[in-house]
Amino acid sequence: MTPDPAAQPKTFAASEEFAAQANATAELYTRAEEQGEEFWADQARELLTWSTPFTEVLDWSNPPFAKWFQDGTLNAAYNAVDRHVAAGNGDRVALYFEGEPGDSASYTYAQLKDEVSKAANAFEALGVGKGDRVAVYMPMIAEAVITMLACARIGAIHSVVFGGFSADALRSRIEDGEAKLVVTADGSYRRGKPTTLKPAVDAALEKGGDSVQHVVVVKRNGEDVAFQDGRDVWWHEVTENASTEHTPSEQNAEDPLFILYTSGTTGKPKGILHTTGGYLTQAAFTHKNVFDLKPETDVYWCTADVGWVTGHTYIAYAPLVNGATQVIYEGTPDSPHRGRFWEIVQKYGVSILYTSPTAIRTMMKWGEEIPGEWDLSSLRLLGTVGEAINPEAWTWFHRVIGGGRCPIVDTWWQTETGAMMISPLPGVTAAKPGSAQVPLPGIAVDVVDDAGTSLPNETDGFLVVRKPWPSMLRTIWGDDERFVNTYWGQFGDKYFAGDGAKRDADGDVWILGRVDDVMNVSGHRLSTPEIESALVSHPSVAEAAVVGAKDETTGQAVFAFVILSDQATAENRDAAELAEEIRAHVGREISPIAKPKKVLIVPELPKTRSGKIMRRLLKDVAEDRPVGDVSTLADQTVMQQIVDSLGAK
Ligand code: WTA
Repeated sequence: MTPDPAAQPKTFAASEEFAAQANATAELYTRAEEQGEEFWADQARELLTWSTPFTEVLDWSNPPFAKWFQDGTLNAAYNAVDRHVAAGNGDRVALYFEGEPGDSASYTYAQLKDEVSKAANAFEALGVGKGDRVAVYMPMIAEAVITMLACARIGAIHSVVFGGFSADALRSRIEDGEAKLVVTADGSYRRGKPTTLKPAVDAALEKGGDSVQHVVVVKRNGEDVAFQDGRDVWWHEVTENASTEHTPSEQNAEDPLFILYTSGTTGKPKGILHTTGGYLTQAAFTHKNVFDLKPETDVYWCTADVGWVTGHTYIAYAPLVNGATQVIYEGTPDSPHRGRFWEIVQKYGVSILYTSPTAIRTMMKWGEEIPGEWDLSSLRLLGTVGEAINPEAWTWFHRVIGGGRCPIVDTWWQTETGAMMISPLPGVTAAKPGSAQVPLPGIAVDVVDDAGTSLPNETDGFLVVRKPWPSMLRTIWGDDERFVNTYWGQFGDKYFAGDGAKRDADGDVWILGRVDDVMNVSGHRLSTPEIESALVSHPSVAEAAVVGAKDETTGQAVFAFVILSDQATAENRDAAELAEEIRAHVGREISPIAKPKKVLIVPELPKTRSGKIMRRLLKDVAEDRPVGDVSTLADQTVMQQIVDSLGAK
């Protein structure tokens, strides 16, 4: 008999055993409510080790520029590594590295302390010091984490650029941050083949990036790479004889920790700036309570890449600050086989798994027999991030991967928020598939209309944060004005997240996706204008418009509508071949993740009388729906022309 869907529970409470041992308690909400900012001060004192204790909690005298714990000092790397060794936990494994080809390595906290110290000494010997920017362009190898912590140790500001980004994307980020040092690798492994990174660094620096004095190169796959004398040095050579002794730089709580670029609503990526004390406080608090971390016994694995914020907060910082044992994996989920994730879970006895809805939907497609071949009984908690998880994927994850026993936390947050903001607390909140549910203790979110007025339940609106939070972005690097306009311009005293949301009848928050020109493909943020400008930089393209269309696996998929240049039209080339060439061009200009799923060559684009492209109508075409209201178009026949031109192919 097939189960009656109406008889299925609407929510999933954790088992009594889980709830009895959970770190989080309902009392956290009441305490946060009663204590206000002091709640965060307690967390900061309890979860971090300060060199100078702070006396001031929050300075919000100059909004939206927040200062948390500003008269305290601490060092992030000391908190992530040294203090665990000092507390007698030096022998605990900090990192299990699993390479894509199957090689592996592990680092205890004591070993990690030595490696981070050596790298810190090596970077200082190369002239890098407090406040200098270091661009990190690396695969998912232990050295990526070591580099980030070494920067934090000396007070340098890391700017990690996802290893899949193009040379141009890397160059613009190096230039915006005026990086002094670049840390990279010869390459990595991807789907069984060696890939390279160093050539992209060379290409980036050939065209600019004049601030860069040195490039440190980790030997990962032994690919032949060019070296520029005086500039480029091997990681193993500069760290080999470096001392394992290094005194961490004493950082002010508000000293910058890192810059991370994210797509915005214009073509120029935004350098999101995070500082030290508040960021680490919320990172550690959420990691401990949302993941129910027990550092002595859990094995934690977050499948993100350090190139994204998830890899910063929930790989490089929070787990280590909390003294956890974690796995990092270099490769893809299907290499060398489609059971790779589950093989890793079995091999290391992973108990907490944090991944993306896209990965889950992909594995659903591959079939449940694949995870069924592995022992997943070590898992006790599952988490998702990056996009909304549809209830089908949620229930599959719960049943097939979690064996029906693991609580799932659907965590909403952003590069800008630095750490989780909305999520169930396992053992406290009964999970509701598809909803990120409730703001975390100490976080004040709201759903408002376009005038900023709070909306009742069951009404669609905009997601905002009403009060400053410790891990909030402090500014956009070098552009305070853009920071103010982008996030505070809309509602003045409330942070505008860029997401649509609604609260259901129970008051639980459902995230409805971006309301701006940002698309979310496989949990990656892509900017509409950035892809459009890559498209028009192809000689055959005269004009382009991009939309994010619903996609079963990736959440959204990029559809590009292009008008050909006169010359390309005259050449009368095979449309499919040309479309493929244009797709590849975007891949090269930005990154393979930005490649449109489809490039559709059309005779015209729908524009209003003032020349604004009406992407909403193109989205109708991409999602295969009847085209909506065309009355505001300058030429009302355009949509018909587009539909006809596509139908004819
Ligand atoms: C989306 C990733 C629904 C959202 C940590 C947000 C989500 C953007 C969720 C931030 C979730 C992230 N449910 N949507 N649980 N988590 N998003 O900066 O649109 O890469 O604004 O940070 O991802 O993406 P970012």
